[in-house]
Amino acid sequence: MKTSLTGIKPTHLPHLGNYLGAIRPALSLVDQYRTLYFIADYHAVTTVRDANALRGYIRDVAATWLACGLDPERTLLYRQSDVPEVFELTWVLSCLLATGQLERGHAYKDALARGESPNAGIFNYPALMAADILLYDTDVVPIGKDQKQHLELTRDIAMRLNHVYGEGTLVVPEALISDAPLVPGTDGEKMSKSKGNGIPLFESPRKLRKVIMGIKTTSESLEDPKTAEGSTVYALYSLVAPDRAPEMKQKLAAGGYGWGHAKEDLFQAIEAEVGPKREEYLSIRADEEQLDAILHSGADKARQIAHATIQRVRGAVGID
Ligand code: TRP
Repeated sequence: MKTSLTGIKPTHLPHLGNYLGAIRPALSLVDQYRTLYFIADYHAVTTVRDANALRGYIRDVAATWLACGLDPERTLLYRQSDVPEVFELTWVLSCLLATGQLERGHAYKDALARGESPNAGIFNYPALMAADILLYDTDVVPIGKDQKQHLELTRDIAMRLNHVYGEGTLVVPEALISDAPLVPGTDGEKMSKSKGNGIPLFESPRKLRKVIMGIKTTSESLEDPKTAEGSTVYALYSLVAPDRAPEMKQKLAAGGYGWGHAKEDLFQAIEAEVGPKREEYLSIRADEEQLDAILHSGADKARQIAHATIQRVRGAVGID
């Protein structure tokens, strides 16, 4: 069975876009692959400056994945920081990377373009991400389009290391770019924590309803026929309840069905999918000891794979 691995940066409370765009598609891979999903806590340190917030986000993210159906018996769920071998590999990989490759990194270039002075962690991020992947003999990495460049760099370093130190030292992974469509936020732009257009996943139903009622729509009157295409409410509805989307489209086209009705239907559909998971989330999140035990047990297993890889790499480079 091939190995699929992905990392989740614990920088915020997961929103509906994370669920539809990343969590749900990643969890659908467990039958086809040996799956490793980890909380990229050291990646979060590039931006999160509040230690207590980070502590919270790590557990929020872990509890979210578990509540959404991640079975820790079938999927290794662990914290990046629980496997320190990743830093040994990061160093070796850095020594094979040209600084120019890092200078062309999207995250780094974007930060420069915004007039920021990015820290060296952001600059080196692609090396750590490559180590995250290569440490576990990963075959495929399910990611969004925004991570494509990181994957290309990872493949590049793996091939270079194999070329320099011996073919077969590292497994060269492939990207599994998700075909999940972009999930719009309340303003119709891609849902993103930083844009403040997020729809909450596990906050109260009241809050969820309020946010949904605030989604931007056009301003036809109730009787007017409306076009589903281009509407954020409809786009979200098709993602949450694809089988019932044609019905909403018809109702909109027929007139006499307002955006308020469509939002109410969207709320009901989200609540039907998310409500039971919210209950589960709240109970998992409340028992931190049990949650940490799950993460530690995942790390123990992950570490065995990591250990074998690092031995191989040490031997290959002459540090054994
Ligand atoms: N960089 C990824 C993101 O911002 C998170 C990540 C870290 C990751 N390490 C990874 C993803 C390894 C896939 C594989 O979303």
